[in-house]
Amino acid sequence: MALFEKKKAAPPVPAEKLPKHIGFIMDGNGRWAKKRGMPRPFGHIEGGKVYRKIMLYCQDIGIKYVSFYVFSTENWSRAQEEIKGIMQMMRMYLDDAQKHLDDGVRFIFLGDLSPYPEDIRTRMRKLEKDTERNTDINVLMAVNYGGRAEIAKSARELAELVKQGMLNPEDITEQSVADHLYTAGLPDVDLVIRPSGELRLSNFLIWQCAYAEYYFTNILWPDFTPEELDKALIDYAGRGRRFGGAE
Ligand code: IPE
Ligand code: IPE
Ligand code: MG
Repeated sequence: MALFEKKKAAPPVPAEKLPKHIGFIMDGNGRWAKKRGMPRPFGHIEGGKVYRKIMLYCQDIGIKYVSFYVFSTENWSRAQEEIKGIMQMMRMYLDDAQKHLDDGVRFIFLGDLSPYPEDIRTRMRKLEKDTERNTDINVLMAVNYGGRAEIAKSARELAELVKQGMLNPEDITEQSVADHLYTAGLPDVDLVIRPSGELRLSNFLIWQCAYAEYYFTNILWPDFTPEELDKALIDYAGRGRRFGGAE
């Protein structure tokens, strides 16, 4: 045993009551900055720090899959300045993650990476490859991600297989659609957490959240804390998930 082995935080509920997969819609950065009379990118910088803190806390308490909504297919409609700021942040976090390859975190990027600058795409693919054997926690980063676009992508790929005579339309199942999503082989989301007071999914993992539980809070993402996550986990542990069955 290492002399100074890192002490793990205890989860607020028994391990078997924890969700396997948590999805975070990291919303409210802009309003957080505005409240302080600061430009929106300032909120994204604070939000980035919170992402890292929450990710490490999830790892500590034994969550195996955690998704973060970083940038949606609809977010391109924002001002160039803001988009540039977000790209700069991505570079920073990609470089930082590259320095922590031995920390047990596996990174997977969900979304259409093609519109990103080449250097960002290369860093993302490299990080995925360099962490593919890590098993402590899987961190799914939804970047240029849209749930509808993802389902359309799956349909396109299946149609291509049909065209090539490799698949019969009658053999298309829920499983085959899932196998062509960005999350192929990964578990569905159990718990979605959305701060900022908005009560919507905003196109986040819509297929994978079909039976998820939801936790909404008015706290803005830059103010989100491990204590707030504990509250969500306690709430989740008390929910009765039935998946269409009856008690
Ligand atoms: C979420 O915060 C981050 C991104 C969408 C990139 P917002 O930037 O949407 O913050 P609000 O909702 O305007 O406060
Ligand atoms: C969702 O937040 C996208 C991310 C957090 C990356 P938005 O701020 O874009 O969602 P809407 O516009 O309020 O639905
Ligand atoms: Mg928002």
